[in-house]
Amino acid sequence: MAKVTVVGAGNVGATCANVLATREIASELVLIDIKEGFAEGKILDIFQTAGLMDFDTNMTGVTGDYSKTAGSDVVVVTSGVPRKPGMTREELIGVNAGIVKSVVTEVLKYSPDAILVMVANPMDTMTYLTHKATGLPKNRIIGMGGALDSARFRCYISKALGCNSNEVQGMVVGGHGDTTMVPLLSMCYYKGAPVARFASEEVLKKAVADTMVGGATLTALLGTSAWYAPGAAAAYVVEAIVRDQKKVIPSCVMLDGEYGQKDICIGVPTVIGKGGAEKILDYTFSADEAAAFAKSADAVRATNAVLKEIGAL
Ligand code: LAC
Repeated sequence: MAKVTVVGAGNVGATCANVLATREIASELVLIDIKEGFAEGKILDIFQTAGLMDFDTNMTGVTGDYSKTAGSDVVVVTSGVPRKPGMTREELIGVNAGIVKSVVTEVLKYSPDAILVMVANPMDTMTYLTHKATGLPKNRIIGMGGALDSARFRCYISKALGCNSNEVQGMVVGGHGDTTMVPLLSMCYYKGAPVARFASEEVLKKAVADTMVGGATLTALLGTSAWYAPGAAAAYVVEAIVRDQKKVIPSCVMLDGEYGQKDICIGVPTVIGKGGAEKILDYTFSADEAAAFAKSADAVRATNAVLKEIGAL
């Protein structure tokens, strides 16, 4: 039994709400947006599928009234603007920092014990900002980029191998950026066997490259950011929390010496359960992957520095 709030009824937030409702992950679901009637409309639309898809979730759409979100166990923060074709996620920082800061303040007023799942871009920096703005314990703020990027990695690897993506295990660590993601090819397996046995290095390298620009490819095709996979990825993280699944999900969490990094939120393999980010796992990356991870951290840090320049910190 968990109350889950999704902030932002845009494409990603509404898709996340749809997955949470149809899979009955939340027993009580609130979708909130600032645009008058929008969240109410999205929830009514989802509700009208209940008889078709056989689910029974208590759900409410709300315009701006955070008191309706009170007592949430988990809150997904999707609010902010998406990217347009040709834009990087990092370019959104100016607008989204202000939105994210005010949203998390409102959320915590009514749900002081909630675990926050951060989705707004640039996701690593928005997760870092949330830590700095709220001072919450590390386990309670989780950026969802790694769940999404890992799903995309498994998708591209399965296409390369011509296999079922559910049979592929793979993780993407590092930042959630076109150039900062680190797909861990050295730890990618097809039903327990290293993928290198099933495809050439060239084919696998292309799958890695496609993964890194997975979001940008969709932005170019759709004219705005993707939403089915991002929404489902956020719901996947929520499910691991509310069902206490202890899943290992590469998640953007605050590091304090792990992987040689401190005072940064970046994607690392994390056990997700009812305590939120319960444990960071210590994997050994290949030399190339470790170097890419360190470079990724430098880039994320440079974006974090912009928070100070724009007065958000
Ligand atoms: C993406 C955006 C949501 O990767 O960050 O599609």
